[in-house]
Amino acid sequence: KIQPIKEVPKSGFMKYFWGGKSVVFNEKPALLNEPIDLTSYDKIYIGSPVWNASYAPPLTTFFTINKVVNKEIYLFACHGGGGTKVFNKKLSNLLLNNTIVSTIDFIDPLKSNKDEIAIKVKDWLARG
Ligand SMILES: Cc1cc2nc3c(=O)[nH]c(=O)nc-3n(C[C@H](O)[C@H](O)[C@H](O)COP(=O)(O)O)c2cc1C
Repeated sequence: KIQPIKEVPKSGFMKYFWGGKSVVFNEKPALLNEPIDLTSYDKIYIGSPVWNASYAPPLTTFFTINKVVNKEIYLFACHGGGGTKVFNKKLSNLLLNNTIVSTIDFIDPLKSNKDEIAIKVKDWLARG
């Protein structure tokens, strides 16, 4: 779990305000996470909510403190129905020098049927 030091507001206007502003200003919120030694990993699964058609800014910080190159990348996203076209493109730009193998997205998974989501995730993992 990627965790900003300053907690993101959990809901409502402040969450949209904080999140939207941090995308627009391309912020790099400081993280509680320490750098990870990724050298022994070939595949990396990484996910984010879609915020303003982009990824959540803590990922910018994550990829600044963790140099990710020559990996097979699997992207997963959740969103409110706007899709992931721009999200995937922006995240791919952040992950140049890697191979994006597969992407998957979920519309507001916490409000959806958990069994259906579990099947979708299992299928995706099985294909990887
Ligand atoms: C700041 C902010 C911006 C968002 N922008 C989009 C968007 O551009 N497109 C979209 O489909 N959903 C958008 N959403 C909805 C979330 O992607 C969606 O609710 C997601 O499933 C859960 O995100 P969360 O973990 O931030 O609550 C946005 C949500 C927030 C908080």
